[in-house]
Amino acid sequence: MERSTITDYIGSNKERMLNELLELLRIPSVSADAKYKDDVLKTAEAVKNRLKEAGADNVEICQTKGYPVVYGEKIIDKNKPTVIVYGHYDVQPADPLELWDSPPFEPVIKKTAIHPDGAIFARGSCDDKGQMYMHVKAFEIMMRTNTLPCNVKFMIEGEEEVGSANLGAWIVANKAKLRGDVILISDTSLIANDTPSIDTGLRGLAYMEVEVVGPNRDLHSGVYGGAVANPINVLCKIIASCHDENKHITIPNFYDDVLELTAAQRKEMEKAPFNLENYKKDLAIEDVYGEKGYSTIERSGIRPTLDVNGIWGGYTGEGAKTVLPSKAFAKISMRLVPNQSSEKISAIFQKYFESVAPKGVKIKVKPHHGGEPVVVNMDSAAYTAASRAMEETYGKKPVPTRGGGSIPIVALFKQELGLDSILMGFGLDSDALHSPNEHYGLFNYYKGIETIPLFYKHYSQLYNAK
Ligand code: BES
Ligand code: MN
Ligand code: MN
Repeated sequence: MERSTITDYIGSNKERMLNELLELLRIPSVSADAKYKDDVLKTAEAVKNRLKEAGADNVEICQTKGYPVVYGEKIIDKNKPTVIVYGHYDVQPADPLELWDSPPFEPVIKKTAIHPDGAIFARGSCDDKGQMYMHVKAFEIMMRTNTLPCNVKFMIEGEEEVGSANLGAWIVANKAKLRGDVILISDTSLIANDTPSIDTGLRGLAYMEVEVVGPNRDLHSGVYGGAVANPINVLCKIIASCHDENKHITIPNFYDDVLELTAAQRKEMEKAPFNLENYKKDLAIEDVYGEKGYSTIERSGIRPTLDVNGIWGGYTGEGAKTVLPSKAFAKISMRLVPNQSSEKISAIFQKYFESVAPKGVKIKVKPHHGGEPVVVNMDSAAYTAASRAMEETYGKKPVPTRGGGSIPIVALFKQELGLDSILMGFGLDSDALHSPNEHYGLFNYYKGIETIPLFYKHYSQLYNAK
């Protein structure tokens, strides 16, 4: 297919393609909060209808133990390859609401310095409704212009933002349905709009909740303070002990399985364009902070981390209340890198917290969701196809990078289906995903729609040639 066929089609359908996405963004499909259950289900219904309209067959809402998977397919020829498109229709909670400049589920388009053509401000605009919907529109283009060169299967899930805990079982139960050749995902970031890139890895995740229990009730901090362990003090001390002065993680055996990159691989990574001054400016920080001996790109891409996501306990209301709290809590996540196992790391984390806690408190450690790290094989027809597609639309070869985030199901695609994933994302890290004022550039949206059919083209050509 010619690139001009795609751009012509986009040109005459621009407004509608945007309005359809805005419609999806108006449904608050927050998977973490049961209050939004009907909206999450309504979003699945909407995705199903959009897939049908675009021309998919056998479109269905597949039940899982949690939120459903929307499935649809177009099989044109059994001898042609099959691309499986994965994405998610659920979004992160919008809180803290007061920090949004416009309501999170009432999308508005505004220009920014990075997005001079305008960006859609709404929760899920970039992660992942906007990126997922590009695939539906790209499919529509190939259907309407009779240029779909291979088979395609869509699986759009509704629990990614809560760890995809029920999706693994669904995949195992639907192996025949999911027979295919490669998984194509747009749920990651580019380096910049003039610097295309493809993620060649994702970090894994071990997410823990810790509860520290001291005395059987909140105490007067004057009467008992100094004589009884304060659970918040204890929790803070343990958390602080998890890093040493070089910001290495101190939990015994934490780095045992970490696959170190070779000097050559690290040198290759350093080639990716990165401007530390802009990075700091974007975040309004005076300096970066992290593990000694590694660059910022390495710290956020190839090194494991331990971060407190939330911590609470005691009195946090107005004024001062003198109290020695009975309990303290924290949610702590660890990002994992290739060869680390979320189960193993969860276990050593638990052991460490239990072993260092003083006798005056009890510690309960509860693992939440996890996910395994991934490395993408760059030596494949699919990677070459993605690279060629982006080169065609951006005029530059994409740079391989490592994404610091996690998409838990990707490791299972490999493990259960034997399939590699291509992480061809079009968002920007500065698009505020998971944060207030999340947005997605119109340039990025249309560029994605334009690039995806070219992936199909190049992939089919390479596949037929082998
Ligand atoms: N799309 C992100 C992951 C991502 C973002 C990867 C940017 C690379 C670059 C995904 O929706 C996400 O947020 N994943 C969660 C997983 C968790 C909830 C299990 C994450 O990384 O925190
Ligand atoms: Mn996502
Ligand atoms: Mn996300």
